[in-house]
Parts: sequence; C-alpha cells; structure tokens
Amino acid sequence: MTDPQIVLTERVQQALAHAFGPEHADADPLIRPSQFADFQANVAMSLAKRLRRAPREVAEAIKGALSDFPGTVEVSGPGFLNITLDDSWIESEAQRVLADPRLGVGSITPSQTVVIDYSAPNAAKEMHVGHLRTTIVGDSLARLHEHLGNTVIRQNHLGDWGTPFGMLIEHLLDIGEETAVEQLEAGMGTEFYQAARVKFDGDEAFKQRARVRVTTLQSGDPETMRLWHVFMDATVRYFNKVYQLLGVTLTDADLAGESMYNPMLQKTCDDLEASGAAVISDGALCVFPPGFTGSDDKPLPLIIRKSDGGYGYASTDMAAIRYRVHDLKADRILYVVGSEQALHFRMVFAAAQVAGWLPDTVSAEHVQIGMMLGKDGRRFKTRSGESIKLMDLLQEAIDRATAAISDRGYDEATRSEIARAVGMGAVKYADLSVSHDSEYVLDFDRMLAFTGNTGPYMQYATARIRSIFRRAGIEPSDAKGPILLGDPAERALALHLLGFGSLVGQAAEQSEPHRLCAFLYETSSLLSTFYEQCPVLRPEVPPETRASRLALCALTMAVLEAGLDLLGVPVPERM
Ligand code: ARG
Repeated sequence: MTDPQIVLTERVQQALAHAFGPEHADADPLIRPSQFADFQANVAMSLAKRLRRAPREVAEAIKGALSDFPGTVEVSGPGFLNITLDDSWIESEAQRVLADPRLGVGSITPSQTVVIDYSAPNAAKEMHVGHLRTTIVGDSLARLHEHLGNTVIRQNHLGDWGTPFGMLIEHLLDIGEETAVEQLEAGMGTEFYQAARVKFDGDEAFKQRARVRVTTLQSGDPETMRLWHVFMDATVRYFNKVYQLLGVTLTDADLAGESMYNPMLQKTCDDLEASGAAVISDGALCVFPPGFTGSDDKPLPLIIRKSDGGYGYASTDMAAIRYRVHDLKADRILYVVGSEQALHFRMVFAAAQVAGWLPDTVSAEHVQIGMMLGKDGRRFKTRSGESIKLMDLLQEAIDRATAAISDRGYDEATRSEIARAVGMGAVKYADLSVSHDSEYVLDFDRMLAFTGNTGPYMQYATARIRSIFRRAGIEPSDAKGPILLGDPAERALALHLLGFGSLVGQAAEQSEPHRLCAFLYETSSLLSTFYEQCPVLRPEVPPETRASRLALCALTMAVLEAGLDLLGVPVPERM
C-alpha cells in the first residue's frame, strides 16, 4: 500500500497499541491533511480524555512509540502530531507506482458480483437527457468495478413493455413497417409516440384496435410479437447509436428490459401471496413493507398486481430483484436511476426483505441521479417545451468542440476525431464531476471550457505531457527516472499521485465517480504549478533532473489517462 494516509494510519495504530495496549490497535488515528505539515494525527486529544491524561503527554507517548516511520513528527498545539514524510520515502513509493501497471490500484479479494442497472431508457418515449446521466454514471461505475476485479453484470432495464404498446403497434401498422423503422432508427420515438397518442385520444376505432392489440400482445400472439420485435429492434438500434457515440460499454447482451420479466410475473405474485408477504387489499395484491406510511398515516402499499389483474412497474422490479439475487448471484446491486424514484426503490428493497428475497449478505443500493436542469434552473427542456432529443444534444456538443479546437493545421479526419473526443468528454465529465445525487445544470459553455474542473482541461493536461515527450524524442514508457524530489512543486505532485490507488477503490465502494474527477482536477492543478516551477527540457537542466522530471511527467500522464478511462472519458493524443 502506497497511499500515505493509509500507511500513516497503520503506523500510528501500531504505536498506539505499543504505548497504550493492544485494545487501541483499531482506534482511528484521525490522519488528516495539514496546513503545517503533510499530515496531522488528531487522535491524542480524544484518547487523552478517555485516559484522563494530558493530551500533549499522550501525543509525546505516541511519538515515542512510533517505529519504522517514514517521516518526522512534531507535537504541536494542544496535542496534534504534525507529520512530514521523508522525501526518500515519497521518491521510492512514486518509483514503485511508476513501475506498477496498475498504478497502485489494488484488486478486491474476494471479488464480488456487482449487478449494475443503468441507462434504462423507455422505448415508447424518447431517450431524454435524464437517461444521459444514468447512462454515463452507471457506465463509470461498471468500469471502476471491473478494474478492481469484480464481476460486473450490466442490466439495461429498458421500458419495453406495457399498455402503450397496443397503441404503438397499431400505429406502426398504419404507417407501414418500413416508415416506422426509419423513424425509430432516427430517434423519432417521441414523434412516433405522440402521433399514436393523438389517434388514440381522438379516434374511437383506433382506440379499440389498440386495446385488442394489448391483449394479443400479452397473450404472446406470434404476429403481434413479431411486430413488437420490429418496433423494439429499431428502437434499440437508435439507443446503440447513442451508446456508440458516447463510448458507453453497453451492448445488446446487456439488454434486460421489462419484457424479460413478463413470464415471471405470475409466479412472482403467487409466491408472494403464498408466503404471506403480499395480501389482497381493495382487490389489488400488495406488500405493505414495515415503516412506510402515507400522509394519512395508513400503511403504504407496494402494488404487485392491480385490481384489474394488470402488472406494473413494481411487479417487474420485484421479479427483477429476485432474479438478480437468485439467478445472477449478485453480492451487490446498484440501481442507477433518477432520485425521484427513491421511494419506489426503498419500498422494493423493503418488500424483497419481507419476502426473504434479499438476504443481509446482498446489498441493494439506489444510486440516486439528480435532475438535469436548464440554465434557467428548471427541468431541462427545449424552447418549445418538449424535452430535447439526446442525439441533437450530443451533436451540439461536438459542433461546439469543433469550433473550440479550430485551426491547428490538422487534417479533416484528425480534427473531427478530436472534436468528438472533446465534445463527448466534456458532456460525460460534466455529468460525472458533480455528486450524482445533486441537481445538475446543463451549460455547454462551462463544460467545454479549457480551464476548471472540466473534461477538456483534463484532456488538455494529458496532451500537454504528450507534447513534452514528442519534443524530448522519447516514449513515456522509457521515462523510468529515478525520481528525485528537489522542488516543492515536484514533491507535492508526487505525494498526491500516491493516493490514486486507494481513491479508485473508494470511488467504487461509495459509488462516487465525482471523487475521481476531483482527484484528477487536483492532479492537473499540481501539474500546472510543476510546469511553472520546474523546467523539464531546457538545456541548463542537469540530466538527472531532466530524467526525474520526465519520469514524473510519465507517472502523471499515466494516472490522468487511467483515471479518465475509468470515467469513460476519451483521451485524444493531441488537442
Ligand atoms: N425505465 C425507467 C425510467 O426511465 C428506469 C428503470 C430503472 N430500473 C429499474 N429496475 N426500475 O424511469
């Protein structure tokens, strides 16, 4: 382990056990970054209270018991332990990380099976901006867990079933399969849906046909199923275009839409009823999980089967959670879904517990995604009021990126490749860099800025390092050091990079990719200072300093690139 904060924690714990007895071996030494040194340990104050001794005396005792310690310690103030790491320790650890293909990132043992439910657009409607964020955050979590050695099972819980499909299939027949497929592939799902809806509301005969179609669909009639497949295949082809443009790792193998659970719903209900977990209430089959009450203080039902015999969103989610635990053998299930569905998921998890389908060994978590807002602070819409087509939004980002990087003498193909990486990187990074549950303002100018905590700034930082290596005429992989720290800017950068491995673990554990963004932003800022203070290629720089600085550049670039890759943000070679 290279993360200084973890190394120091272990060493101080050993000292605590040594000075005050083994029962203190697990105490948290409260290691924090410090203004006056690299770190400070604050444990002496709280421990002194419990031991009824003077805090400074306790701090001195801890200091005296430290052994094999990679730094110097001073007791200050009421009993802080100020810790300054030895340069030689930072140097050798940095050297180790540089030589490690995983850059200090460990593997989780034993590895876990992590089911990640994300993206999940609704076929009958447009894939809108809200789904953009669940897609991007979910994909980053999938990449993080896979990198840590977990088995990731992606589940794209498409809204691909339900009563609107009667109306949609009839409309498909009306306009002809070919036209329908063309429209759906072009992402005109909203228009398609609205046209069907208008007929449904205004045309009795159509409405009748749509109703009959719902029944034939539910009974599995082969011709109706064929038409449903025509509709869904075209829709999924559109989703795939979006995924491809974004560089999202979802494939057709990850499709696990609501329709997949259809054959399981009856048994789901029967089993819940037989075990007593669900009861009939006003004709509907309901689970009343403990602790949920409505505004009238009455127990709140999770409706598993409606009084007309129909199934809904909750029925499917009950079947899905059982399938994920029982068949997919999940240790952990992440639902990356809008925060407005928080109550739904709390009730599904609680109901699954009541049913005995969610053992304590499995954790089901709703990774809440905050709403996407326009610059006006309201729910993101186009000027005319309807929600904007995702593909148009992505294209706009690419167009703006093209303008931003214009004219560096690149040929057309290179330029459009860079523009795509910068545009998609900007959109994705903006989604990832704020905590997933906070609301998020879609602002192209800000996300495409080349300064601040943005995708383009991180990409630019890597491109800048690449250009140093081009000028030096060596490959980054040949920059092996040794790393020797002279200037404070070098030291600060190297020390920071040592924390990468444990940070990646924490970001995955806590489902917080934004912490990885913050880490990379800090990396880029420290890199900038390093550039200002520490020339690399100038002739007056002695060869060993040059070699050390090139190695530090290589390490920084490797960390930035690995981090961006875990976020799913593309890295162009040049900018
Ligand atoms: N299709 C749903 C929506 O757009 C999201 C599905 C999330 N996953 C789930 N298991 N319910 O709101």
